[in-house]
Amino acid sequence: MSRRKLVSSGVVTILRSDGGIISGERLSRELGVSRTAIWKQVAALRKKGYRIEAVPSQGYRLLAEPDSLDACSLRLELGNELLMGCRMEYHAETGSTNADAFLIAEEGAVEGTVVLADRQLAGKGRLGRRWESPVGVNVYCSVVLRPKLPPYEAPQLTFLSAVAVARTILATTGLQPAIKWPNDLLINGRKVAGLLNEMNAETDQVGFVILGIGVNLNMRQDQFPADLRYPATSLLLETGSSVSRQTFIVRLLRELDQEYCRFCMSGFGPVREEWSRYCNAFGREVSVELGTNRLQGPFAGIDHDGALLMQLSDGRLERIVSGDVTVL
Ligand code: BTN
Repeated sequence: MSRRKLVSSGVVTILRSDGGIISGERLSRELGVSRTAIWKQVAALRKKGYRIEAVPSQGYRLLAEPDSLDACSLRLELGNELLMGCRMEYHAETGSTNADAFLIAEEGAVEGTVVLADRQLAGKGRLGRRWESPVGVNVYCSVVLRPKLPPYEAPQLTFLSAVAVARTILATTGLQPAIKWPNDLLINGRKVAGLLNEMNAETDQVGFVILGIGVNLNMRQDQFPADLRYPATSLLLETGSSVSRQTFIVRLLRELDQEYCRFCMSGFGPVREEWSRYCNAFGREVSVELGTNRLQGPFAGIDHDGALLMQLSDGRLERIVSGDVTVL
């Protein structure tokens, strides 16, 4: 990171942590640069959309931050202890963060590398669908993982990321999300986030997995296309207030880190338990589209490996490993 960027992130971090007026003298002392350098960085931050008040003979106060994504300040906020976000790649605009992450993973990107974008031109959803990705309002994030797993266990990582997203939504908004098998997050029955995991594997060992996470944070109603397959929403539409993308992403990466460490140490059991607490479909009638077929019955939970369990009329349990679920 360049020295200028370090000073700029440092100014924001100090102003943010205190919340009050901080003298130029203290900023210059703590960051080890001249007061002129601080003044220049404050001017540069204002150009980026930060509202920083200069209080005569007292110092600076941070009034508001732009909802911009900045890999450097994300890295600084995350610190050095987490695996998630240990490397970060940011694109103002890209085709798909999953496609970017896949490419760099093939070239050897380390586990925990995160690719973020402000906008995706070809955002990918499940089952070959498109993921709406307008600029500047949502989270489009892909994480490179290299778990020591056989390929058939890799889908369990989807459940882990669903739990991390659910916890982040709860922590940042107070809203209680529901998870719909396998990987949709809903609020009041409307989809607010989706996950797309892609894998590179040998016969008996995963090479890498890309965890793709899309969350509708501050998307307005007019930004949703009219022909959406499922009703969709955003955190802004549900709460009436916007959510800082930076705050959300930092929390999300912390939650992911915690869940992934637990998964590596204790396996799928704890993830499955927590996933089940967010799932509101137990006992409810669900319909699953399997290509041209459709199965219907009460949802009976998820199996030891994440497969959906459906109660059949003859009492047997049907295992479903992929498909489109509707809770009836
Ligand atoms: C779905 O519910 O259909 C999955 C949506 C996944 C969207 C995210 S946005 C970040 C990452 N990059 C992509 O192209 N897709 C995933």
